[in-house]
Amino acid sequence: MNLKSLLELLADGAFHSGADLGRTLGISRAAVWKQVERLRQLGVDIHSVTGKGYRMPASLYLLDKDIVLHYLGELAPALEDQFDLFFSIDSTNLEAMRQIQQGVASRIIVAEHQRSGRGRRGRTWISPLGASIYASMVVTFSGGMGALDGLSLAVAVMVRRVAVRCGCHGVGLKWPNDLQVDGRKIAGILLEISGDLTGPCRVIIGIGLNVSIPESAARAIDQPFSDLASHSDHTLDRNQVLAMLIQEMHAGLAQFEEDGFAAFHEEWDAADVYKGRSVELVSGSNKVKGVVRGVADTGALLLETDEGIRAMTGGELSYRLREISG
Ligand code: BTN
Repeated sequence: MNLKSLLELLADGAFHSGADLGRTLGISRAAVWKQVERLRQLGVDIHSVTGKGYRMPASLYLLDKDIVLHYLGELAPALEDQFDLFFSIDSTNLEAMRQIQQGVASRIIVAEHQRSGRGRRGRTWISPLGASIYASMVVTFSGGMGALDGLSLAVAVMVRRVAVRCGCHGVGLKWPNDLQVDGRKIAGILLEISGDLTGPCRVIIGIGLNVSIPESAARAIDQPFSDLASHSDHTLDRNQVLAMLIQEMHAGLAQFEEDGFAAFHEEWDAADVYKGRSVELVSGSNKVKGVVRGVADTGALLLETDEGIRAMTGGELSYRLREISG
């Protein structure tokens, strides 16, 4: 018996008694209780009511490769063999790195749960089971590192297109690549690059897209956050959300290879939540104050300072942008 079988039984959101669950799974009621505790530790909300049993507060769409392939439609045959789905993993980005070391050039790695999800600036990406999309894509670019200018911003635009297709309103972008609604993060992107400066390089595009974060997991998240479910009136099947993400990334990356960030610039500008605002850009002990004037085609932040407009580049993964009062 594994945790996944128990989760599949509880996924309908209805009450199930410990005795019924035990009978179906061939284990004792005490063993059911233990497995429920383990699921709770992985971030799943499970209520227990005396006399009724266990239930999840809302029904859960568990990820299923065949269903994702169904939603992928005409892309399915090409991607079927390039797709890994894990129930629980350390980090999909780490798995992507391991696969690159074995020579993989193109892959999509997805997990229901991450034990050590990686965020930017060395932070942890809290990854409760069944609550979000945790996906990493291995992509090979031929033009050296220079061809990657603006990629992380372009990816933010691609992920935003998914949020919009999910009926999520008011999704803004914060440089370099956060998606927010009302100042609360709904998705994060972590790019990790391996290769040389001039030749082909492999890029890991790691995406964490909050779909429906349970209350119990929310306590562990140390920054303002929200999720698609809180801002959409659609019923969100994560299989469909994942298929949309793969479709948008597939089309978007082809567009990026052709035209670079320029192809996404207008869309980025329209969603830029900081444009025209006074900010302080912090990188380690270095602080620069100015007014955000948008982004350049290289993906650099254009900051109007006392010395004129400066393009703030490099180290996008280690900068912090915040509004200053007064
Ligand atoms: C950020 O800090 O904003 C970036 C978060 C990126 C999280 C995703 S989840 C899938 C992939 N695997 C990881 O370990 N991290 C990225």
